[in-house]
Amino acid sequence: MNSPVAITAGKDLEAEIRRLKSARNAVILAHYYQEPAIQDIADFVGDSLDLSRKAAATDADVIAFCGVRFMAEVAKILSPEKTVILPDIKAGCSLEDSCPPDAFGKFRAEHPGHISLTYINCSAAVKAHTDIIVTSSNAEAIISQIPADQPILFAPDRYLGAYLSRKTGRDMLLWDGACIVHEQFSEKELIRLKVRNPGAPVAAHPECPPHILDHADHVGSTSSILKYVLESDAGTFLIATEPHIIHQMEKAAPHKSFIGAPGADGNCNCNACPFMALNTMEKLYLALRDLKPRITIPEDIRLRALKPLERMLEMSPKSAAKADLSAIA
Ligand code: 13P
Ligand code: SF4
Repeated sequence: MNSPVAITAGKDLEAEIRRLKSARNAVILAHYYQEPAIQDIADFVGDSLDLSRKAAATDADVIAFCGVRFMAEVAKILSPEKTVILPDIKAGCSLEDSCPPDAFGKFRAEHPGHISLTYINCSAAVKAHTDIIVTSSNAEAIISQIPADQPILFAPDRYLGAYLSRKTGRDMLLWDGACIVHEQFSEKELIRLKVRNPGAPVAAHPECPPHILDHADHVGSTSSILKYVLESDAGTFLIATEPHIIHQMEKAAPHKSFIGAPGADGNCNCNACPFMALNTMEKLYLALRDLKPRITIPEDIRLRALKPLERMLEMSPKSAAKADLSAIA
């Protein structure tokens, strides 16, 4: 009876969200894995690095973050004076879940000579134990700035870590975490799809396991995948990442075809991120109306997590992959 859908029944959600956004002096930031209606109402859609930069630079009073909790936490760490709201506070991430802060702190303590590089997909408390944060768009560039004889510990994504290790030739100690979405892609089904679509390039996210990445013509962050398909001369693409990004591809290049890589049952719907899906237009409306759920982080943890995030921003190339979406602006 009190579900967000029931509470908001009969409302023009799009108009209400726009009205509240202006009344609250809010900015809506969204990740490419959000449902199309949320992407379309957002002020900015991007990958984890783009969204961190936007969150650090905005002069809005409220950041309505449509993504998962660790992303909203990054916004709060970088902009503590702002109110950061997340439509559904339960929007977590399997990578974050795979790396409990206490176990990670112990792991670090057991390897005192290692520098700790941590994928941004982790909790604020894990960031507080880390030397440098990376995202899939800046990790290679950041690793290249670390002296060759410096041992590296990488957490929490073992597939991204293994991919980076292969790409950079650096031997890294890997934490054993994975993304439940990207590890579901089926190699057998992908090969079947390639046979049915001869010549169609495969674009994959580095959170995929190596048996999927081995088939990829392009591997990169969500922004870099978007950039790749927009710049390529090919007409059909096989996309091995969360399928909601296809919304931006279809908007920017309606004459091209984008096919989501399937999971083991041959159905690509199983690769929708269940955490991202918790955010809905109804919950975004309620979050802007009530200014909750709010992200809060104990100040000592925030200050410790800020350092590795600032290092990341300093060490990132100024122009990480950014798709030209002027066609849909
Ligand atoms: P990027 O958008 O940074 O490529 O990250 C993908 C992801 O898994 C977000 O959870
Ligand atoms: Fe986490 Fe994977 Fe969902 Fe990204 S797609 S939020 S890594 S579970």
